[in-house]
Amino acid sequence: MDMFEIEGARPLRGTVRAGGSKNACLPLITAALLSEEPTVIQGVPNLRDIREMVGLVRHLGARVEHGEGRIEIDPSSFSTESVPYEIMRKMRASFYAMGPMIARLGRAKVSLPGGCAIGDRPVDLHLRGFHALGVRMGRSAGYVLARHEGLTGTRLSLMGTNGTSVGATCNVLMAAALARGTTIIDDAAREPEVIELCRFLNSMGARIQGEGTNRLRIEGVERLRGTRWQVSPDRIEAATLAIAGLITHGDVVLENMPREYMGATLLALENWGADLEWRGENTLRVRRTRGPKRPLQIVTEPYPGFPTDAQPQLTALLALTPGKSAVRETIYAERFMHVPELKRLGARITTPERGRIEIAGTSALEGAAVMASDLRAGAALILAALAAHGTSQVRRIYHVERGYEKLEEKLASLGAHIRRVPESGDDPGLAETAKALKETEVSATLVDGGPPVTPARTIGTPLA
Ligand code: EPZ
Repeated sequence: MDMFEIEGARPLRGTVRAGGSKNACLPLITAALLSEEPTVIQGVPNLRDIREMVGLVRHLGARVEHGEGRIEIDPSSFSTESVPYEIMRKMRASFYAMGPMIARLGRAKVSLPGGCAIGDRPVDLHLRGFHALGVRMGRSAGYVLARHEGLTGTRLSLMGTNGTSVGATCNVLMAAALARGTTIIDDAAREPEVIELCRFLNSMGARIQGEGTNRLRIEGVERLRGTRWQVSPDRIEAATLAIAGLITHGDVVLENMPREYMGATLLALENWGADLEWRGENTLRVRRTRGPKRPLQIVTEPYPGFPTDAQPQLTALLALTPGKSAVRETIYAERFMHVPELKRLGARITTPERGRIEIAGTSALEGAAVMASDLRAGAALILAALAAHGTSQVRRIYHVERGYEKLEEKLASLGAHIRRVPESGDDPGLAETAKALKETEVSATLVDGGPPVTPARTIGTPLA
């Protein structure tokens, strides 16, 4: 296993390019199974999650050529009716196989996704949608079993307790594209990744209207053809790179920015004190304005609100923003695994209630060993380490590699001192203990060498 060793406190400067969107690309790969003809997808990022998805569609019987930035899927031999736990446990987006399996094969046996570091992530809305289309559903030994004698268009809502769902909207869209009659999905997700899937399916001959709104209307067709597609840039990678420039007080030009889809993120950065200068349609220069950095109150929301996938990275920025900021997570109340690790770097963050943190910004962080628990938490730790004084080790970077292509190369090209090194046996838990001991020593010195300590009232001194 590798880790990143980062010598921080160096302003990042230069030009960098965002790659293709992981989360847009994942459902496109399974959607290609809805046709019997080959599909070509270009601009595909070279990421672990993408390779897992390619492995999944191969398991399902499709022939796939996967080269530099390009995937060609020939689904003519797609026939496998089950997705085992061994595949599902590696990546929950494997559940995207279910819509095409139901639509093309008429049956599916798919492992339920298990736990996730960012909290409970149920699939009830996916199943509700399939059921509404006429699929009989069962459950056995950790698997969902689905079967039908014909999908029938209907009207259904995908509203859940935490709002609507990107994954359920994509899965139900894929099944409804080949259903008999018209399906209306109310409370559909409006995320750019859903819009891209609608456009992709329409390019295959589907009839979907309402993309980007909460109501999708799908007129089922008998068959879909293959297509050729260029994946759009990754809005979360773009946000992460922009914050890398800002947190290090740098000056970064970002190319291939999905401007149309970054409204809430860019507004937050502007309110914080970023100077955003567009140079043409998709190139953005990001640096700080001359004024002070401003703390923010952020609430994550479904698109077009502030994205949960950029919350940990923004939290890192706010940790270094004097004043009191707050972040409320409405999508994943438990998505704060980065907080204890940011605190190891010196961030001052409290959790007054579930789903909400308060950040007392500080003017400097200090390098330390930290550990990534998931993709975006890892990104946040890398950002904090880039800004921290001294050297940090960010461990478990395999999480980061799931969603950021060549991140260390991109950051190094901007002047970051970041190296990939094998993880040593030096456990971060031990490092934490060592740090705590160091702090004890410091306070002991202060007590020994300082003025006589007056008895503290809090331990029961009688009041005069
Ligand atoms: C997608 O996950 C993304 N993943 C996530 O990105 C992202 O955080 C999330 O959308 C929200 O934007 C991919 O695109 C592969 P949801 P998804 O269904 O589709 C609840 C990253 O960092 N819910 O929109 O699984 C759910 O628990 C990843 O790149 C149900 O209650 O998310 C959550 O609170 C992490 N029942 C909310 O809805 C369901 O059946 C939104 O989840 C489904 C979801």
